[in-house]
Amino acid sequence: MENIKSYVSQHKDRFINELIELLKIPSISADSAYSQDVLNTADAVKNALKKAGCDTVEICETPGYPIVYGEKIIDKNLPTVLVYGHYDVQPADPIELWDSPPFEPVIKKTEKHPDGAIFARGACDDKGQMYMHVKALEYMTVNGKLPCNVKFMIEGEEEIGSSSLAWFVERNQEKLSNDVILISDTGMISNLQPSITTGLRGLSYVEVEITGPNRDLHSGLYGGAVANPINILAKMIASLHDSNNHITIPGFYDHVEELSLDERAEMAKAPFSLDAYKKALNIDDVYGETGYTTNERNSIRPTLDVNGIWGGYTGEGAKTVIASKAYAKISMRLVPNQDNLNITELFTKHFESIAPKSVTVKVTPHHGGQGYVTPTDNIGYKAANRAYTESFGVPAIPQRSGGSIPIVALFEKELKSKIILMGFGLDSDAIHSPNEHFGIFNYLKGIETIPLFYKYFLEMSK
Ligand code: BES
Ligand code: MN
Ligand code: MN
Repeated sequence: MENIKSYVSQHKDRFINELIELLKIPSISADSAYSQDVLNTADAVKNALKKAGCDTVEICETPGYPIVYGEKIIDKNLPTVLVYGHYDVQPADPIELWDSPPFEPVIKKTEKHPDGAIFARGACDDKGQMYMHVKALEYMTVNGKLPCNVKFMIEGEEEIGSSSLAWFVERNQEKLSNDVILISDTGMISNLQPSITTGLRGLSYVEVEITGPNRDLHSGLYGGAVANPINILAKMIASLHDSNNHITIPGFYDHVEELSLDERAEMAKAPFSLDAYKKALNIDDVYGETGYTTNERNSIRPTLDVNGIWGGYTGEGAKTVIASKAYAKISMRLVPNQDNLNITELFTKHFESIAPKSVTVKVTPHHGGQGYVTPTDNIGYKAANRAYTESFGVPAIPQRSGGSIPIVALFEKELKSKIILMGFGLDSDAIHSPNEHFGIFNYLKGIETIPLFYKYFLEMSK
């Protein structure tokens, strides 16, 4: 029987080529023009799971895109690991900022990835990370080393809010029953220092529309005498933070959990260089809430950000106009105990209340979800840490992430198990941005580490 390291080194070219084929399909869930590609990706994942050793695989229909489900049950008395991932990807735009086409994967070396990285939309988020689990399963079945039962649940709507998955989970609790949920859809500190994500932020995402006059107006004939919706919107948005960068929405912080000084000191031990951070982003200084460090601001604190803002004339040259309408998309990242529906309501009330009489406000909620924190004293976390320690040579550091996987809180509520976030991406991998990539080292290391998790999870379950 081969060990995992030699299996990976023997099959790595094939592993990379298979992932490249998957990355060629533009499974953009947000854009209906790609719906056939999203469906084709589900089929490709189904076939890959079958080939890797699942006994049953199915495409489960939902009101939206299907969920690919696969399982290999070796013994009902053994623990069951449920693997979750997503086969959909973010839109590729702005496409002109990619150095190579987003769905024609290429391998290039980078400073962080001297062994090369695969550049393509979805390389890291989440096709590459999801596929590590498929290849780890292949190794474990081919070599008779699968220690636990395994179930796969791979969805196609994570990037648009997972509403069909929520529908599916509520209806299939028995089918999805498990002892631990394993997800690779987050990051780690660096290739030398692994970390396990112990928290995700929640999300409330809204779109706002400000309407002024009933039509676009000449900005000379009417300017100064009527409210300009774009000016008003800018003013309203600016008022959502005070001079300390606290969010001004009444009640916004009511349920925010304040970490103890000890917990914050523990967090601050993780390796981090503010200079390198600034340099990587080409900024002279960071910016954020008074009283918190950069790593606190982007993980344990809630935020409010405009993700897009538009209205009026944005074409070439100058057009003198007061637009009738102005729009913005606003996200609020939330911390555990903040309820996303409650926050959306607080936002809506406040935003309506700060508008002058001369405009009307419409707030439309988009997707959202609760935050999540996982304790480190459960066997899932401990098994993951042993796996990392063995494959990287150093223990993993627990770290709360600023990103969101809204479905994770629902998993805990409906399936009543702990979720272990074993991510292998780096923050610099440009997920959701042009030139997204995933390190070859990270991909192969993930495949090596996952079987160790299964091994130690079984050992610790006894
Ligand atoms: N995989 C990411 C979330 C993530 C990335 C968490 C890195 C931690 C570290 C996921 O695909 C994602 O992009 N989530 C969205 C929310 C979703 C509802 C669109 C996010 O965080 O913006
Ligand atoms: Mn993801
Ligand atoms: Mn994503």
